[in-house]
Amino acid sequence: MHIPNLNDARSRKRKDYNRIDYSVNKNIINKFSGKKYCIKTYGCQMNEHDSENISALLESIGFSRVDDYLDADLVLLNTCSIRENAHNKAFGMLGRLKHLKGKKKDLIVGLCGCMAQEESVVLEILNNYKFVNFVFGTHNLYELPEILDRAISTSKQQIEVYSREGDLVEGLPVVRDNAYKAYVNIIYGCDKFCTYCIVPYTRGRERSRKKEDIIDEVKQLVKDGYKEVTLLGQNVNAYGKDLYDDYNLGDLLEDIAKLIIPRIRFMTSHPWDFTDRMIEVIAKYPNIMPSVHLPVQSGSSRVLKLMGRRYTRESYLELFHKIKDTIPGVSISTDIIVGFPGESEEDFCDTMSLVEECKYDNAFTFIFSPRVGTPASKLKDDVELSVKEDRLQRLNNVVNKYFLENNKKLVGKTLKVMVEGISDKKNMYYGYSETNKLINFTSDKELVCGDIVLVKIEDAKTWSLDGKCI
Ligand code: SAH
Ligand code: SF4
Ligand code: F3S
Repeated sequence: MHIPNLNDARSRKRKDYNRIDYSVNKNIINKFSGKKYCIKTYGCQMNEHDSENISALLESIGFSRVDDYLDADLVLLNTCSIRENAHNKAFGMLGRLKHLKGKKKDLIVGLCGCMAQEESVVLEILNNYKFVNFVFGTHNLYELPEILDRAISTSKQQIEVYSREGDLVEGLPVVRDNAYKAYVNIIYGCDKFCTYCIVPYTRGRERSRKKEDIIDEVKQLVKDGYKEVTLLGQNVNAYGKDLYDDYNLGDLLEDIAKLIIPRIRFMTSHPWDFTDRMIEVIAKYPNIMPSVHLPVQSGSSRVLKLMGRRYTRESYLELFHKIKDTIPGVSISTDIIVGFPGESEEDFCDTMSLVEECKYDNAFTFIFSPRVGTPASKLKDDVELSVKEDRLQRLNNVVNKYFLENNKKLVGKTLKVMVEGISDKKNMYYGYSETNKLINFTSDKELVCGDIVLVKIEDAKTWSLDGKCI
């Protein structure tokens, strides 16, 4: 049994970790043929991509996938710790599974992902959720087949969570959820330690994949007919820093742009490491999508300092405008937290005025959620809940106003849209523009998912646009 430990998770000692190739344990291949699994994914794109690897690992040992957990022999929760509601959702599901296990004794239940990396969660499982058969963390995902096999053959609860990141494993199998859009990890972990955030503890320190491994993966995706790749990392801008002296995200983006894949996206960018070189490369290559997610978190330099964000309102705005002025037609989205400990009405008004200036194309807005073990959780959470809710509402009103205003400017324009499917609700095709806007559209001819078509925009809504394929 290995239980996670906060002090180890905090440690950032330089260590040369091994880069190893995944190899299948021949003794368990297809051992569970005929069994069905259901995986529930609660987190970000990295978490979703982990689920694509987990699915492939389970399928390699014979499991087949079902969507309804009531039909499954194994239910695996791939969890997220970012805010309390993510926690609550996973624990709510565990409650339902406990009930189900009362009736279905052979049901196997596993928990993995970021919550598994939290000491407090694992202790809670050990004490109060004894029916959970196994828990593994984000650093040893590749060991799932063995851990599951042990849980079944010994009928003993398996807890295998490491707080120190282990080897960087290449060649994990993957079953992708989509046949034309793919996620590609470029860097794992995060060293930024924003004071409110749990990710540096759950995902370990920054570790870049080798550029050759990434480029080979994208080349294979091109061969397989993929039309879009999204390069993933908690802070993609730090790419290469731990590995190379003079090769960074700008260089990687350029090398990938030359591979002739129609669409390249990347996320998430921390404003701190956003270099001129990156802006130059994004502006230069038409297949790097002009869409940047640039989380600001707060418009008050005082609060940004308390958050440990390493930039001020002024330096953020300078970067924001440089990106806007250099990349033609770029859309910029953001994340904002309201109600950080000590946030005054004046601080909040700074956020409102920043939003008025930036007129974002999209924004994800959150109420501060204290996370166990983070520095901000030790600050006095002194903003009343009703004040936090009121600020969130006021903020949402302004961001929504600009979403609509920006969208209205697109009416009458023709945009390149990648066809993603037919929406059940509207009975129209839907897809995303280069700037990542959701477009619902009609077409006289039948369209194929993954194709990039021209759509004339006829109407603007707050979160989407309507149009017609021409
Ligand atoms: N790596 C990204 C953010 C990943 S988490 C970045 O730094 O830009 C996604 C978003 O969740 C964050 O940008 C932040 O707005 C929000 N978030 C993270 N921790 C939070 C917390 N404790 N309470 C509320 N929101 C939080
Ligand atoms: Fe969290 Fe900050 Fe790292 Fe983003 S950059 S994952 S907010 S610590
Ligand atoms: Fe959640 Fe972990 Fe992603 S905390 S946001 S699943 S890195």
